[in-house]
Parts: sequence; C-alpha cells; structure tokens
Amino acid sequence: MVTSSSSSSLGSTLVLCLIVSSLMTPSTSNPLSQVCIKSKNPRFCLQVFGLNPHRSPYELTQEAIDLALKNASETTKKIHTFLDQTKNDNKKVIYYLCLNYYQSANDVLREAEEYYLKEGPYSNINAAGKLVQEASFHCENEFQKIVGYVDVSTLTKDNENLGIFGSIIVAAADLLSNSTSAKK
Ligand SMILES: *[C@@H]1O[C@H](CO)[C@@H](O)[C@H](O)[C@H]1NC(C)=O
Ligand SMILES: *[C@@H]1O[C@H](CO)[C@@H](O)[C@H](O)[C@H]1NC(C)=O
Repeated sequence: MVTSSSSSSLGSTLVLCLIVSSLMTPSTSNPLSQVCIKSKNPRFCLQVFGLNPHRSPYELTQEAIDLALKNASETTKKIHTFLDQTKNDNKKVIYYLCLNYYQSANDVLREAEEYYLKEGPYSNINAAGKLVQEASFHCENEFQKIVGYVDVSTLTKDNENLGIFGSIIVAAADLLSNSTSAKK
C-alpha cells in the first residue's frame, strides 16, 4: 500500500528523474535542456515548459515570451490590488514605480513577439529578455530605496519569477540566433 505522503514523495522523485534525464539528453538534440540549463533556474524552466523536449528554438522562444507576458500581466493585476488596499504613501510610490517597470517589461515582450520574432533581428529578443530581468530587479530594489523606510517586499516571488522568465528568454533567443546562423 502506498500512503499519501510516500506517493507524493514518489511523485517528486519522478519529476526529479525526468528533469535529470532531460538534462542528460545530448544537448544538441534537445533545445529545451540547452535553454533551461542556461537559465537562472533550470528546474523552474523545465517545469514551466512541461518537459516536452520536442520543440524548436523558435517555438521555445515564442512560448517563453508568452509565459512571461501572462506572468507579468498577473503580477500587474496584483500590484493594482495592493495599490488600492494600501494607505501608506511610501508603499504607493513603490507600487507606482513597479507598475512602470512591469509596463515596460510588457511593452518589450509584446514588441519581441509582434516584430522581432517574425522579422528579426533575434538579438533584439535577447535584449528584451535582459530588460525584463532588469525590470524585475528594479521593482524589487524599490522596496529598499526610500530613505528612512525599509519595507519587506510584497512582490519578491513575482519579481523572482519574472527574472527567471527573462533569463529563459535570453537563453532561448541566444539558441535561436545560433541555430539560424548555423543554417546559413
Ligand atoms: C508565474 O509563473 C509561475 C510558474 O508557472 C507560477 O508559479 C506563478 O504563480 C506565476 N505568477 C503569477 C502572478 O501568476
Ligand atoms: C551561441 O553562440 C555564442 C557565440 O558562439 C555562444 O557564446 C553561446 O553560448 C551560444 N548560445 C547557445 C545557447 O548555444
């Protein structure tokens, strides 16, 4: 008999095995592991992509942008909610600044999807990924910036997730540029 606690540890062992075997697959035949291993958090990367290695660098890049856009828009909603709820003026300032950072992340991601993914240059997608990482870093930093006011960030997890998505986009766009120039 399998108890519920041992079945859940069996489940996570299975996930780990899938991750390890996916990372060990020869990397040239597995763009997914090539991208994820270069991201800031390979485990997170493999989990959000769903462990299906049969995707081209182009598909991976497109999917990474989509996932980042969805994530950023969820966080934007969350910031609006926090903004409505707080009466603290310092916090309001932080939330407005974070909204700006998330808006700029959203803008470059849309641009990457609508223009650069279709027409190139793919290096602009790489740049978009870097900007997304910076946006998440700056938002997180705002919580420490106001003089005489130290606050625990309410967006740490969100900023961390956006930062990882940014690093996935950088890695995917990098692989995409490389695979395209190799064909020429
Ligand atoms: C962003 O994506 C991650 C990974 O899929 C998920 O755990 C997290 O809840 C998402 N964040 C939001 C705000 O939707
Ligand atoms: C793409 O090529 C550059 C230059 O050769 C290299 O530094 C980089 O690691 C490659 N990226 C990937 C994802 O293979």
